[in-house]
Amino acid sequence: MSDDPSTARHLVLVGLMGAGKTTVGERCAEKLGRPFVDTDDLVEATAQLSVADIFDQFGEAHFRELERQAVADVAASPTPLVIACGGGAVLDADSRRALRANGVVVWLQAPPSVLSERVAGNRARPLLRDGTPVDTLERLALTRAPAYEAAAHAVVDTADRDVDDVTRLVLDALDAERA
Ligand code: S3P
Repeated sequence: MSDDPSTARHLVLVGLMGAGKTTVGERCAEKLGRPFVDTDDLVEATAQLSVADIFDQFGEAHFRELERQAVADVAASPTPLVIACGGGAVLDADSRRALRANGVVVWLQAPPSVLSERVAGNRARPLLRDGTPVDTLERLALTRAPAYEAAAHAVVDTADRDVDDVTRLVLDALDAERA
């Protein structure tokens, strides 16, 4: 599957940590023949530091500033992309607007218990370092739901689905929004 770059919008994946944005995004990009970008990678390239080191050395507010800039840059790209957003990227209203205006935004959902299994053992996420991941993810699911809802054109439930199934559903959602 490929698309006409003159009319195509970005495909944007949002959702909590562990939702599968990067894995599914890479697969969608392959199928669409588009470049894949992950906002965390852009932030790390700009800062020349890992996300965890940015949090440690400069604090979360600085990370959010870099993330806002990364989102603005990718949203403005004339080339249609597949964009995986860091889990907190759409908390910023300007970022939500830029992504919705230039892309089809798909919210990948799963219950916190499933998300916490997927992120288990990964120490790269500073927000999951304190407390129990499942409790943190439950809290984030509640507080962030309005932002994801406001950002998203479509929702895909990823629980009990493998990457192929989720990829297919995301591409169906992209087609439906473009129709
Ligand atoms: C965050 C999610 C992470 C990363 C950072 C903060 C969040 O990205 O941006 O650790 O606020 O939910 P992933 O959602 O890709 O893990």
